[in-house]
Amino acid sequence: MENILFINSCIRNDDVSRTYLLCKAFIEKYKSTHSDVTVTEIKLSALDLRSYLENDIEERDKALFIGDSENGIFSLSKQFASADKILIGAPLWDFSFPSVLKVYIEHICVNGITFHYTEQGPEGLSAFSKLFYITTAGGYIGSHNCGVDYIKTISEFLGCGNFESLSIEGLDIIGNDAEAIMQDGIRKAEELAERF
Ligand SMILES: Cc1cc2nc3c(=O)[nH]c(=O)nc-3n(C[C@H](O)[C@H](O)[C@H](O)COP(=O)(O)O)c2cc1C
Repeated sequence: MENILFINSCIRNDDVSRTYLLCKAFIEKYKSTHSDVTVTEIKLSALDLRSYLENDIEERDKALFIGDSENGIFSLSKQFASADKILIGAPLWDFSFPSVLKVYIEHICVNGITFHYTEQGPEGLSAFSKLFYITTAGGYIGSHNCGVDYIKTISEFLGCGNFESLSIEGLDIIGNDAEAIMQDGIRKAEELAERF
């Protein structure tokens, strides 16, 4: 059984979010072309995640120090570390992505669970063989795709799986045919899903 983790970082409702629509097309195509797959979706905006403050870091460090790996503070990190493949969907917000995704990343970057330090430097411990990032943008992203660049960096930090991404752009530009751009985006997402 292959275990796919879908990190839904879309803020708008699933029925209106264009990023979610692409993720859904990607997952449905993947499921129809691969057998024995379980997809676990986590909708970050529904998790009520808080960014870490000093006392949270202290609590986490203490739990790590005493080897309390069953502590709930590690649940997201353990879930990320054990996924076979990972899909992250997030709209482009202010040149990157909604802050809830950054907060989630704070929760999963745990020394000893998703990565550790060796004499040669940090080494990813997460099992994923592939991590795919889908984003949509109102305008054209140009050479500063900070969301993709950052998630790629995190992917390489936490594991050694292959990173790929899909950015569908220009959806809010007056005069653009957003419907046609989305149809093309869905086709691309489905193509990429087949070889994910
Ligand atoms: C808070 C906010 C910030 C945004 N920032 C950008 C941006 O920096 N660049 C851009 O091209 N579009 C930006 N957009 C437009 C969204 O990227 C675009 O509408 C996207 O398709 C929304 O995805 P969704 O339908 O999944 O919510 C922003 C939208 C919002 C609401």
